Amino acid sequence: MNATSAPGRGHIDIQDVCVRFTQNGVPLDAVQSVSLTVNPGEFVSIVGPSGCGKSTLLNIVAGFLKPDQGVVTVDGAPITGPGADRGVVFQQYSLFPWLSVRQNVEFGLKMQGLGRSARESRARTLLGLAGLLSFENHYPDQLSGGMKQRVGIVRALATSPQVMLMDEPFGALDSQTRVVMQEILTNMWQQLRLSVLFITHDIEEAIFLSDKVYVMTARPGRIKAEIPVLLPRPRTPDMMSSPTFLALNRQLRALIREESLAAMGGELGEGGLAGHDWHVGAEGVGAML
Ligand SMILES: Nc1ncnc2c1ncn2[C@@H]1O[C@H](COP(=O)(O)OP(=O)(O)OP(=O)(O)O)[C@@H](O)[C@H]1O
Ligand SMILES: [Mg+2]
Repeated sequence: MNATSAPGRGHIDIQDVCVRFTQNGVPLDAVQSVSLTVNPGEFVSIVGPSGCGKSTLLNIVAGFLKPDQGVVTVDGAPITGPGADRGVVFQQYSLFPWLSVRQNVEFGLKMQGLGRSARESRARTLLGLAGLLSFENHYPDQLSGGMKQRVGIVRALATSPQVMLMDEPFGALDSQTRVVMQEILTNMWQQLRLSVLFITHDIEEAIFLSDKVYVMTARPGRIKAEIPVLLPRPRTPDMMSSPTFLALNRQLRALIREESLAAMGGELGEGGLAGHDWHVGAEGVGAML
């Protein structure tokens, strides 16, 4: 089963991470004292209001960004930059348009110096798992959004990473395609036994896919709750109407709603509605500035 990653690998440890950006000369605390763990082989999601620092955290684990404070390790080694041990999939498709589907998947393997037939066989195996083998010679602009994103996932998996970092990978897809993608991803994850850190705005998606879900607060982002998902594997769509699923859905929705309101209240207070004296006059609704 475990053809690609050694058992017990893919342990992500984020300890006391703080990130401060400067926007127009003003310091902005994006992430504050965040600690979280992804155990080997675990599927972990992060949910939270827009702007709470989810992508920032993922970019740190990917090695694209250094935290101002705290330590992040993968299998005990501090992160010093991007690496083949971590596959990354973003919301926007990032395939090379001039390469065929299989060439896209083989790209990282070629960079690693793998021979032609080994590359081809690995790419074809993974494309088969994702239901894309019959499209191996197509080019990205001949594919639908869902297919492009599947190729993106397969490409990230090709170099046998221990961890996959996914930032709203299905955010641009329609809801039916999304459900199919979720099933394909869980199947691939189960077969390849890797760890996944997954960001989503979709609470049902987070529950369906994950072993545990972290909820973040409004900015500056902190961990508000760690919710284990005690649904059996393999997950099936009918579980989405089970009492456990519905209870988790309610719990997470309530937690996120509080934070989304806080996030919007904060933004409005920074130059929006708060502080304005609203009135309804003969000319209609207006703000007295
Ligand atoms: N490079 C940067 N420079 C300055 N500020 C930044 C930078 N990257 C992110 N930020 C700010 O940090 C905060 C967190 O951003 P981040 O993109 O991590 O949020 P997010 O939780 O991923 O939001 P969303 O759900 O909308 O994708 C935001 O206020 C954002 O404006
Ligand atoms: Mg984001």
